Amino acid sequence: MKNYPDIKIDGFISIAGFVNANFKPNITIEEFGKITMTLIDDNFSTVVYGINGTINFRTFKPMSDEFRAFKIGEAALIAPEYRKSNFKSIDLADFFSTLSIPTLNIIGEKDALVPLEYNLYFANLAKNGEKIIYKNIGHSPPWEDTKSTTSDIARFASNI
Ligand SMILES: *[C@@H]1O[C@H](CO)[C@@H](O)[C@H](O)[C@H]1NC(C)=O
Ligand SMILES: *[C@@H]1O[C@H](CO)[C@@H](O)[C@H](O)[C@H]1NC(C)=O
Ligand SMILES: *[C@@H]1O[C@H](CO)[C@@H](O)[C@H](O)[C@H]1NC(C)=O
Repeated sequence: MKNYPDIKIDGFISIAGFVNANFKPNITIEEFGKITMTLIDDNFSTVVYGINGTINFRTFKPMSDEFRAFKIGEAALIAPEYRKSNFKSIDLADFFSTLSIPTLNIIGEKDALVPLEYNLYFANLAKNGEKIIYKNIGHSPPWEDTKSTTSDIARFASNI
C-alpha cells in the first residue's frame, strides 16, 4: 500500500497485527533474542529447532498436532533471505495513521507474540478503524476461532 499508492484499496484487515517490528512480545527479551537468533542461522537444523521453539507462542489454545506440523512446515519453507530481512526494524505507525479506508483489527486477547496493549495501540491509530478482541485467543485467530474470524471478515467485507 505504501509503495504503490495508485492501487485502489477499499479496506484493510489486520489479524493479530504485526505491522511494526518494534513491538515487545510477552516473553523476556533474552528468551525472545535466543529464539530469533536461531531463525537467522545459516544452519538449517538450527533454524528448524528454533522454529519449533517459537511454535508455542502461536496460539493460546493448545494446538492440534496437525496445526503444529503445518506451522512448522510453513515457517521452514520461508526463504532464508526473507527471514533475515524480517528482522530489520520497521515502523509503519505514521503510514497507518494516514489511512482513511475502513480497517478491521482482529485481536487475540492472549496473544503472546504481539501483546494486547501493542495491538490496541496500533488499532487505535486508524482513522476509520474497527477492532474486535477475541477472548482467550492467542496469535492465531483463524485457527483458534475459525467461525468468528470468518464471519467478522465476511461482515466487514460486505460493508465496504
Ligand atoms: C547444525 O545444527 C545442528 C543442530 O543444532 C548441529 O547438530 C550441527 O552440528 C550443526 N552443523 C554445523 C555444520 O554446524
Ligand atoms: C519441539 O517443541 C515441543 C514443544 O515445545 C517440544 O516438546 C519438543 O521437544 C521440541 N522438539 C525438538 C526436537 O526440540
Ligand atoms: C504475559 O505473561 C504473563 C506471565 O507469564 C501472563 O500472566 C500474562 O497472562 C501474559 N499476557 C498475555 C497477553 O499473554
